[in-house]
Amino acid sequence: MARGQFREAVYLTICVFIVGLVVAQFVRQFSVWLVELNDRAAEDNLKLQIARDTLEHQVAERTRQLQEQNASLDAARLEALRLSRVKTDFLATMSHEIRTPMNGILGMSELLLNMPLHPKQRDYAQTVYDSGEALMTVINEILDYSRLEAGSMHFEVVDCDPRPICQDVLRLMSARATEKSIALRPLEVEGVAQCCRADPARLRQVMLNLVGNAVKFTDRGEISVRVTRREGQIRFVVQDTGVGIGTEYQNQLFQPFTQADVSSTRAYGGSGLGLAICKQLVERMEGEIGFESALGKGSSFWFWLPACDGASDV
Ligand SMILES: Nc1ncnc2c1ncn2[C@@H]1O[C@H](COP(=O)(O)OP(=O)(O)O)[C@@H](O)[C@H]1O
Ligand SMILES: [Mg+2]
Repeated sequence: MARGQFREAVYLTICVFIVGLVVAQFVRQFSVWLVELNDRAAEDNLKLQIARDTLEHQVAERTRQLQEQNASLDAARLEALRLSRVKTDFLATMSHEIRTPMNGILGMSELLLNMPLHPKQRDYAQTVYDSGEALMTVINEILDYSRLEAGSMHFEVVDCDPRPICQDVLRLMSARATEKSIALRPLEVEGVAQCCRADPARLRQVMLNLVGNAVKFTDRGEISVRVTRREGQIRFVVQDTGVGIGTEYQNQLFQPFTQADVSSTRAYGGSGLGLAICKQLVERMEGEIGFESALGKGSSFWFWLPACDGASDV
């Protein structure tokens, strides 16, 4: 081999050796880098796993708390329903038990009033009768209100003619109006074919309450009852020239146990339940109730009920 060729071979060998070293170093570095990358990925995975576990735990914990809350709310609701039923049953039983002897007191004092009595005896018997009647009204109102609240009042809504019902109420109230020297005007009816969707007994009860209030809170003047028909509604208005209602009391009168100016209404008695009952009764018959009034200038209570299907407006 020539000397030059030998040197070239040596150079080539050295070059190959150096390149081999560099490649080996590079490969080693690369594998270190890969290991590091793997480690970091594993670490990130671990962190992610921990975060997911924590979140899952928190969600499970919150779900458990919500389930517990739901269960206790459910139990509270059932307990409230049970108590409301107990209250209604209690009131129904008590009212019945009180009403039976009260009927005895009323009946007997009525019989007594039909006998010849000294003026003083008559006065006492009349007081017994009036007090009994007032107590009966309060008992009936409490019973009706608790029945309505518990949703256990039965309604039978039918097509009915409101005129005989209103006339009957006016007839019933006429004696009390005459006693107070106030005029109870005959029923005014506008339009023919009067027919409304109502439970006749409940309609009568609303009318009795409103006309009863009008007579109670009027000391002079007159009371009128009007029935009109408008746009698929039969509208009832009970108007009086009585004490009226101050604006400060007007938006709370349909609340139970609420009376306007307590000091003056104390003189008239009552439970403050009548209008709350009327509101519920009218609304259960898909109507609406309201009033306009001014202190000292009388009141006008109105309500409407749906007219019968197919009856045309006149
Ligand atoms: N026609 C009316 N004129 C004046 N005030 C009235 C009239 N109707 C109702 N009120 C007022 O509304 C209150 C509530 O009436 P109501 O619920 O029937 O209860 P109560 O007749 O037992 O007092 C009455 O106490 C009275 O202050
Ligand atoms: Mg009343």
